[in-house]
Amino acid sequence: MNSITPSKTPLMIAALRREKTVRAPIWLMRQAGRYLPEYRDLREKAGGFLNMVYDPQLASEITLQPIRRFGMDGAILFSDILVIPHALGQELTFMTGEGPKLGALDLKKLNTDSIDETLSPVYETLRQTREKLDGEGFDNTALIGFAGGLFTVACYMIEGDGSKNFSKVKNYAADRPQEFSALIDVLFEATLHYLSRQIDAGAQIIQIFESWACLLEGAAFQRWIIEPTARLVAALKTRYPHVPVIGFPRAVSSQLLHEYQAQIPLDGLGCDQGQPSAVMKSLQNRVCVQGNLDPDLLLQGGQTMDDAALALLAALSPGPYIFNLGHGVIKETDPDQVARLVKLVQEYRS
Ligand code: CP3
Repeated sequence: MNSITPSKTPLMIAALRREKTVRAPIWLMRQAGRYLPEYRDLREKAGGFLNMVYDPQLASEITLQPIRRFGMDGAILFSDILVIPHALGQELTFMTGEGPKLGALDLKKLNTDSIDETLSPVYETLRQTREKLDGEGFDNTALIGFAGGLFTVACYMIEGDGSKNFSKVKNYAADRPQEFSALIDVLFEATLHYLSRQIDAGAQIIQIFESWACLLEGAAFQRWIIEPTARLVAALKTRYPHVPVIGFPRAVSSQLLHEYQAQIPLDGLGCDQGQPSAVMKSLQNRVCVQGNLDPDLLLQGGQTMDDAALALLAALSPGPYIFNLGHGVIKETDPDQVARLVKLVQEYRS
């Protein structure tokens, strides 16, 4: 056919609206990053992670790197969940090989008024990424914006780094609930503003990474994860009713996953590799499920990976389903195996 193709709804968005799609769309958490040689090259030249995050030209290039190589159906903004504490005034450094480090938290010094002074390059990254996607023929690739879950970001702010499994956080929340609540409120304000500006700049889908949801249970899970997230998503939905939101409460029990879905007005539900596909299937009549191939299987690659991916596709087709990993791509992963996985998923028909 040589007629002009009418502009189509990106597959990811159709799946999130729970429309029928010809196949399952695919993207991968941490699809941009250190397993890609072209990322490592740019990182070396930039001289540090944050220099890339706050440089729209570089950050948009990095966002596009996996799309050019593999053609995933979604491009996720290259940034980090910790830019919010940084913009609020907490010191932030990323040392090579060590992960993030935040300075001491002083609640009284956090300032939501001027976060765009730090964050405006991120919005510019989204604008440039959309332009490049369209210019390079990726018009049907959805642009995904994101933020950390309020609780997860609070964990990093209190603990300072991620190395100790956040032993301080539970005590802080239990012993000083008013302070913890004040911190969550500041993060609510900042994150609502940040995600709104991301949508204004071209983000078509939002994902909320609640990577440390697994630290809480029972009433604490309800109070510090479900309630603030429900408020955040409802506020976004009031402002932007057509922008789908995916929540990803990592490593929680299937029971808590159900409660998270039942109480938060989400379009998509990210599932880590611990969730049985039967649990994901049981949620499909309410929400588009996303996940959950074990990143170790992608690292391993080959037939074992193919078999696991095909089993997921068989269990969760015809959808609504977005293929993804259960957590981020591991940095030792072979890019050829990523290519193999994307091809397998995109060629699969139920
Ligand atoms: O490709 C993408 O997924 C988009 C970019 C992205 C990054 N971080 C880039 C990054 C996204 C969506 C994130 C989210 C993020 N950041 C989370 C939630 C998801 C998850 O993994 O649970 C968390 C907890 C963070 C905080 C963070 N950032 C940590 C703990 C680390 C160090 C550990 C690690 O993997 O290196 C980072 C650094 C980071 N964020 C890198 C990248 C590409 C590596 C930086 C480098 O050394 O080059």
